Amino acid sequence: MNILFATPECAPYVKTGGLGDVSGALPATLASLGHDVKLLLPAYKDMQVSGEVGESVDLAPYGQWPAAQLLPVKLASGVTLLLLACPALYQRNGGPYVDASGSDYADNAMRFGMLSRVAALLGTVHSPLPGWTADVVHANDWPCGLAPLYLAQSRMLAPQERTATSVVTIHNLAFQGVFPMETADLLGVAPMWRGIDGVEFWGQLSMLKAGLQFADAITTVSPTYAREIQTQAHGVGFDGILRARSARLHGILNGIDTHVWNPQTDPLLPFHFGPGRLEGKASCKAALQGRVGLPVWSDAMVLSMVSRLTPQKGVDLVLAALPRIVESGAQLVVLGNGEPALQDALRAAARQHPQQVAVTLGFDEGLAHLIEAGADAFLMPSRFEPCGLNQMYSQAYGTPPIVGPVGGLLDSVTDASADPAHGTGFVMKACDAAALHDALARAQGAFRDPKRWRRIQANGMSRNFGWEDSAHQYLEVYQRAALQRGALPA
Ligand code: ADP
Ligand code: GLC
Repeated sequence: MNILFATPECAPYVKTGGLGDVSGALPATLASLGHDVKLLLPAYKDMQVSGEVGESVDLAPYGQWPAAQLLPVKLASGVTLLLLACPALYQRNGGPYVDASGSDYADNAMRFGMLSRVAALLGTVHSPLPGWTADVVHANDWPCGLAPLYLAQSRMLAPQERTATSVVTIHNLAFQGVFPMETADLLGVAPMWRGIDGVEFWGQLSMLKAGLQFADAITTVSPTYAREIQTQAHGVGFDGILRARSARLHGILNGIDTHVWNPQTDPLLPFHFGPGRLEGKASCKAALQGRVGLPVWSDAMVLSMVSRLTPQKGVDLVLAALPRIVESGAQLVVLGNGEPALQDALRAAARQHPQQVAVTLGFDEGLAHLIEAGADAFLMPSRFEPCGLNQMYSQAYGTPPIVGPVGGLLDSVTDASADPAHGTGFVMKACDAAALHDALARAQGAFRDPKRWRRIQANGMSRNFGWEDSAHQYLEVYQRAALQRGALPA
């Protein structure tokens, strides 16, 4: 099958969160299963990519969009990276979505409209790549949400021409790509699709909604989140559409890239370890304490967090639990970036408890790996979590996670109190401070019983979180969606 995976971020080139990790691993797994996978990614400033560079393809100016180029790079994984080069839109200081001061780029609608348009074009007979047309266009999150709409427009204009099946994946329903309705003209959204049955969302245009309305199939990143988002409590305004399209909605749990996240080989770790030989983990713990400036207390339980600092992630619950954490003699290591108020509160906590709380603000891949390896337990008291990857990394690294009872956390962590034989972590009974306190107390109790703790670590480390099962499920979704619309993929 020819698969076009369109994404605004992809590890290791550009990453702000889990979508980057997924984009770095799922296409490669699909390629390893024998499919022809191309990954469409904007060519942002200063991206380092290595691979076999092919001949670039010119894209003529189109509507309001300037000329651009597609630069194919064959990666070692077998995936061909298609870098979408359009300097006026993508060569900027700052991140993929925000400028250096943290504000959204004013022209994000055009920047990601372009990404969606090119993704759709690659799934038509007018594909700019010589001899290659996608059978499936797999669009990720709101930045690619218009791709299914553009494909639907192509089908409407030229019903006799073959077009790709479209699949949209929701990585986080809270990010909806909302822009003033006036942008519909710039983006070339057909007037008939600007209403409630199209892109309209509270009077504005939502790129994510375009994807949800027009994709042949919708997926999200865990079975529990797929159910949750069909309820008013978690649907963020989209539960109605998702219920209406529930026959087309599938929850597929993310995997982890075991080449990148493996404590036996991880090049970002100073010491390695694996199931049954945990000495290297104790050395990583000391290295972590040293690196973040905490006293190297080998007996203290090191709790940790690596996270975007937003209300989603329950950072405020950790702050509320801090007095008890400190009183218990534990240490807390946090790495994160995000909302200024949460950053300030964490910084203040570190100043107040210099021997027990260490906070690093910023994005640091190496430190994220060392935290997963060196900490004793990982905190993820999320209020909602489409999937979550850190709780899987921490299980693989012998660092039992303490998690909120939501989304992919429920699908990937087994509570050690409820199921002592198979438990891999601790699941909070609710999303509040009291429930975090209770889960922390249970975890600390288990930590004091080394035999029990080793069991929980071993259970987590022996879990298979690889991508292969999930990749097969995506293939099934692609095939079923193609059959449902009567287009058989090659
Ligand atoms: P989300 O995508 O909602 O942020 P996930 O758990 O799916 O949550 O993925 C987060 C990814 O981003 C993980 O790989 C995590 O290690 C990484 N990450 C988050 N914050 C930081 C940070 N400050 N520094 C380094 N890595 C981070
Ligand atoms: C989103 C979600 C996270 C998920 C990631 C990758 O950022 O918040 O839960 O793991 O996407 O799918």
